[in-house]
Amino acid sequence: MIRINHHYLKLKASYLFSDIAKRVAAHQQRHPDPAVIRLGIGDVTRALPEACISAFHQAVDEMAADVSFRGYGPEQGYDFLREAIAENDFKSRGADIRAEEIFVSDGAKCDTGNIQEIFDAGTRIAIPDPVYPVYLDTNVMAGRTGSYRNGRYDGIVYLDGHAENGFIPGLPTEPVDLIYLCFPNNPTGATITADQLKEWVDYATANQAIILYDAAYEAFIRDDALPHSIYEIEGARQVAIEFRSFSKTAGFTGTRCAYTVVPTTLKAFSATGEAHSVHSLWSRRHSTKFNGVSYPVQRAAEAVYSDVGKRQVAELIDYYMANAHLIRQEMQALGYSCIGGENSPYIWVSTEKDSWAFFDMLLEKAGVVCTPGAGFGTCGEGHIRISAFNSHENVNLAMTRIRQALAS
Ligand code: MLT
Repeated sequence: MIRINHHYLKLKASYLFSDIAKRVAAHQQRHPDPAVIRLGIGDVTRALPEACISAFHQAVDEMAADVSFRGYGPEQGYDFLREAIAENDFKSRGADIRAEEIFVSDGAKCDTGNIQEIFDAGTRIAIPDPVYPVYLDTNVMAGRTGSYRNGRYDGIVYLDGHAENGFIPGLPTEPVDLIYLCFPNNPTGATITADQLKEWVDYATANQAIILYDAAYEAFIRDDALPHSIYEIEGARQVAIEFRSFSKTAGFTGTRCAYTVVPTTLKAFSATGEAHSVHSLWSRRHSTKFNGVSYPVQRAAEAVYSDVGKRQVAELIDYYMANAHLIRQEMQALGYSCIGGENSPYIWVSTEKDSWAFFDMLLEKAGVVCTPGAGFGTCGEGHIRISAFNSHENVNLAMTRIRQALAS
């Protein structure tokens, strides 16, 4: 008899954003007018930068002629993109990362979800709460947790974020081997300083642990003192993997391009204590299960690093950050304390109310979709996340509707 992977039965029925989409669809059926404004899932709304579009078109034309056509590309990505990434995202910031340490992929969601499979089933995992649900759910699927009780899985070391620590969790108080960190944070928008990040690197070094550092939102950092990459911190090449994405940076959510950095100096150990190259393991996994991002998409991503591309990407980020500023200002004026929105496209609003009830209320009374904090973990209860990814017009209208809804 065919048996299922029984660990899937421990998962909540559906993924957070699918759950929200179903509720919004049901609401829209009941109330087609006015149209809902989506400030829930962080999905970009503006067109790709012109530099990317033009490179994309040109690459499609190359595919139209036998002489310039490309079939399978290198699984790790074309050198032109990996070199542009190493130069612009790392070397320019003093981070020692080389092109061969970069693995181009179709998304940070896939990479942060898949990376756990190269580590032992008994790996002790530390996960912040609140957290992007993919880190947790993929470890549940892999059987690294016990049952789900009172909003938490047995066997996971949760790193609590709350107002007192500014949603920057402290170091684990029990031994762990694999630590998930995300800064600027999704969902809270909190940021980490270089000194704080150094504490994590030192912890991982002392405990032979690895940090999985999700920096998908680094392009939104405004404060020059904040690190954009964990590799700006001394010692990180020995203990960290970093995930980046073009999704939010350059509007690639529907185009799909991201990358993961695995330094050749990173080691993990066999049961007998023998050190192995994590880069080699990930390379083996990547080339077995992935056939590369399409050539036109990689050319479009490369254009992000041209002079004109850099200018256009900066304008795109400025556009969304103007929304973030407005949302934060308006919610604070309504008496809610907020974090995020200053170096991040997410605003984390303390509602001190049941977060799904607040979500329903905003949907019913204002026709605005946010994300309930409880969907990101028990420490997210009493909060909602508002995303800045929409047009200025829609964000202005959403804030007017929220003001009216909260006054009634
Ligand atoms: C989010 O809203 O948290 C993100 O858009 C989800 C993602 O990037 O997969």
